[in-house]
Amino acid sequence: MSLNLILMGLPGAGKGTQAEYIVKKYPVPHISTGDMFRAAIAGKTALGLKAKEFTDKGNLVPDEVTNGIVKERLSKDDTEDGYLLDGYPRTLEQADALEKMTKELGKELNAVLYIDVDPSVLTKRLTARYICKNCGATYNKLYHNPKVEGTCDVCGGHEFYQRADDKPEAVQNRLKVNTKMNTPLISYYKQRNLLYDVDGDRAITEVWKDVDKILGSL
Ligand code: AP5
Ligand code: MG
Ligand code: ZN
Repeated sequence: MSLNLILMGLPGAGKGTQAEYIVKKYPVPHISTGDMFRAAIAGKTALGLKAKEFTDKGNLVPDEVTNGIVKERLSKDDTEDGYLLDGYPRTLEQADALEKMTKELGKELNAVLYIDVDPSVLTKRLTARYICKNCGATYNKLYHNPKVEGTCDVCGGHEFYQRADDKPEAVQNRLKVNTKMNTPLISYYKQRNLLYDVDGDRAITEVWKDVDKILGSL
């Protein structure tokens, strides 16, 4: 059976972190709409220019733009045996669009993993995040530093950066914007019997054990 998955969770819940573990074990491409926007912004493409004004402040990129890039991505052959969506959908309109496109493509969802973390923890996590410039591996000043200080565990790189939207003002807005749609989206997938709740307020490897157990059971 293919693994057609969504990783859901508020900003900083650990979607990207768990996705790094998932793709190491399961043969699914990691599709993060946030990563796609950041790549487009870095490449100064038309999509990037459009997205930047929203992502920098932590607002949502308009649905029609986001739905368009996801549809294009899911149409590629490498999602034939599964895919891992990270950070999409974030609105009910996106959820409906996804349902429609996956039906058309014959790639309907198998499971939605919701990484549940109390919002009070998230500001602290996000403002302490740093990322390897070379390979994109994610670290955290408080919770997850490389084994050798200043050297990326994955690629050996020495340069790191902070995301533009991890500045305190943008973080507050992201949490506000995303919290609003969270409950309706959870209900949407509960109704469809697709939702798996994961307690994300534990050590990264403990969270991964649960995620792995759920994926193994599908
Ligand atoms: P996106 O890049 O998806 O940002 P986000 O949703 O705000 O989520 P993050 O990537 O910040 O958090 P994460 O859950 O991946 O956490 P991570 O694993 O890094 O989207 C960016 C922007 O793009 C949006 O604001 C919007 O503008 C636009 N966009 C994207 N999708 C869109 C859509 N569908 N519609 C419209 N617009 C869209 O972990 C965070 C930190 O915590 C790290 O430092 C990590 O090391 C640490 N950490 C992780 N797990 C743990 C743990 N268990 N314990 C302690 N620390 C941990
Ligand atoms: Mg992420
Ligand atoms: Zn690296």
